[in-house]
Amino acid sequence: MNQVNEFVMHASFFPHRALMRDTEMLNRIAGRIDSLSKLQLSQLSKWYAFYWNMMEEHHQAEDDIMFVEIEKRLNAPSESIEHMETEHNRLQFLIDEIKRLIGEAVRENGSLLKIKEQLSACTKELLQLFTSHIGKEEKYVVEKMTANFTPAEQRAIENRVKRKAPLKYLSYMIPWLHESLSAEENQQFDTSLPRVVKLLNHFFWKGKYERMVTPLRSMI
Ligand SMILES: [Fe+2]
Ligand SMILES: [Fe+2]
Repeated sequence: MNQVNEFVMHASFFPHRALMRDTEMLNRIAGRIDSLSKLQLSQLSKWYAFYWNMMEEHHQAEDDIMFVEIEKRLNAPSESIEHMETEHNRLQFLIDEIKRLIGEAVRENGSLLKIKEQLSACTKELLQLFTSHIGKEEKYVVEKMTANFTPAEQRAIENRVKRKAPLKYLSYMIPWLHESLSAEENQQFDTSLPRVVKLLNHFFWKGKYERMVTPLRSMI
């Protein structure tokens, strides 16, 4: 297939970096959940609600916007998209299971060994599936976008995806992304942010996010 257009949707992949880093951290914490205090379990549970939302919204935006636009343009259902949507369902099942197990761990007063076993099996599968999923997905999206969409059309799709960001967690999203991007990607990302957002981030959001995530770092 001829690549005729420049690919301008790199920012659509930024959440992959952050989700990947968080999924690795989650998998490591799962392996030692039985050594966490009650306070640490509740900090984990609070952070996990954020992570769950980021995962869920990310897949929903792809299913509802990006994949729909690609299939419309191809004028035919795509087997690759069908496969990626099936993987989204499995990823969703896993993150729901993990949510249930973390909830159980918070309520449990006895040993967490059994929960640890189930939780680790889920986080391990999540990490493997998410890693292979984003690899295939990025390749597919770059291929289809460059072959079928102009840079302006790509930007329009990207803007629709961005507008789907969950309002409840908007204040966390910028520091969350910043933390996982390279210096060059961060520069690219910053130029797309309005000045007021940058100021809010500097004075409030960054600190709020740090307060949520710092306790997690001490658990690994
Ligand atoms: Fe995906
Ligand atoms: Fe994705």
